[in-house]
Amino acid sequence: MIVDSVLTNAKAYLNKEIVDCSIAIENGKIFKIGKETQMPNADEKTNLRNMLVLPGLIDVHVHLRDEGKAYKEDFYTGTAAAAAGGITTVLDMPNNDPVTMSTETLKNRMQIAERRVLVDVGFYSEFPKDLGEVAGIVAQGAVGFKLFLARQVGGLNIDDDKALQEAFTMVGGLGVSVAVHAEDKSLLMANEERLKRANRHDANAFLKAHSERVELKAVERLLEVSAKTGMRLHFCHMTTEEGLKAVVEAKKSGRNVTCEVTPHHLLLSNADYERSGLMLTVMPPLREESSIEALWKGVADGWVDVLGSDHAPHALSEKSAGSVWDVKVGVPGLETTLPLMLTMVRKNRISLGHVVQLLSEKPAEIFNLRDRGGLAQGRKADLVVVDFNRKFRINASKFHSKAKYSPFDGWEVQGSPVKTFVNGLLVMDEQEIVAKAGSGEVIRGDRA
Ligand code: DOR
Ligand code: ZN
Repeated sequence: MIVDSVLTNAKAYLNKEIVDCSIAIENGKIFKIGKETQMPNADEKTNLRNMLVLPGLIDVHVHLRDEGKAYKEDFYTGTAAAAAGGITTVLDMPNNDPVTMSTETLKNRMQIAERRVLVDVGFYSEFPKDLGEVAGIVAQGAVGFKLFLARQVGGLNIDDDKALQEAFTMVGGLGVSVAVHAEDKSLLMANEERLKRANRHDANAFLKAHSERVELKAVERLLEVSAKTGMRLHFCHMTTEEGLKAVVEAKKSGRNVTCEVTPHHLLLSNADYERSGLMLTVMPPLREESSIEALWKGVADGWVDVLGSDHAPHALSEKSAGSVWDVKVGVPGLETTLPLMLTMVRKNRISLGHVVQLLSEKPAEIFNLRDRGGLAQGRKADLVVVDFNRKFRINASKFHSKAKYSPFDGWEVQGSPVKTFVNGLLVMDEQEIVAKAGSGEVIRGDRA
């Protein structure tokens, strides 16, 4: 038999070990992993020259935008950024224009994406106003629901505990996760109004408004409202010690909850505002050193399940303003996540295996992404080839994302994705996109 391709001289991360091997790929899947002499003939052979091969990364927190917000990012540029960052599957957030929150908006979004994406993309939906639509949205192939509690985005009234409970019960029965942005709207709004009345427009005012209490209040409320619903709750971007503690307690009591942290909340603090200015405005905000230590401890102790980039691109002009309240929140992260984490491996902050767990194995498990999350025969041939020795400076002006800025711009990192394969196809080679728009797949409910 002649397979599509064989990658030789790989140092692949298999079953928690780095193994010298070759990998045969056929029809988008891993056909065989073994010695070079055991490989079938292939149409194409690539010598990886002892480079590290990791399972393709899965970023469960990405705002790909497009549609009405295509000026910030579109499906092509966003997924090009993913491929450049070694990420082979992204889950797209629903705060779009129009908001993804119906079978119709989801279907349209999938159809547009299909022709443009370079990596695999799954979609979250916000909750619709009419909960009768929830089952249809799942049938259409949503990988999960996103619930934004800081502000009303979806159709479900976020001030209404009963409505939340009803929605949670419904999705519990359907087996999809709900990813939540845990910041309490009423407390946040009250804080914001008070600070605006006091004529505060500085970065510190933003931090004050988005207090630690704002996060904890939302976490506690969500845990309470979801308690008897049997649903799977995923806490996006945790940033505080107390918030994380509440999640950990829930886990200890056997609750079906998971949580995520972002590289920016692990690597930057509110002190960085002095250096980078209002561009650093993100929601939830960057915290103090003590919170960062608590997050790293949560990672080290195994309580943090996944790393998500929260890639949230905006036009550069939207990232500065006279008042912090007018700055668009969010920073791009798809192209910096892996190099930053590999650098942390080099610095002995975390092991390589743990990075793979947080960025591939666990995301696949939590969101039921079948055949993903590890290198094994029969699984999807989604892989990233890494030059672990390559040192470089992050250069945001070279990003594939439309958002060509980063709080990590100029950082010296070690470890670079050099090739990304999605469904067996080489999509990125030495930071160049070499596949056609539309070569990625839209994930449509293949979650069983
Ligand atoms: O920083 C953020 N950016 N936090 C959010 O919750 C939204 C996101 C965005 O869409 O820009
Ligand atoms: Zn987000």
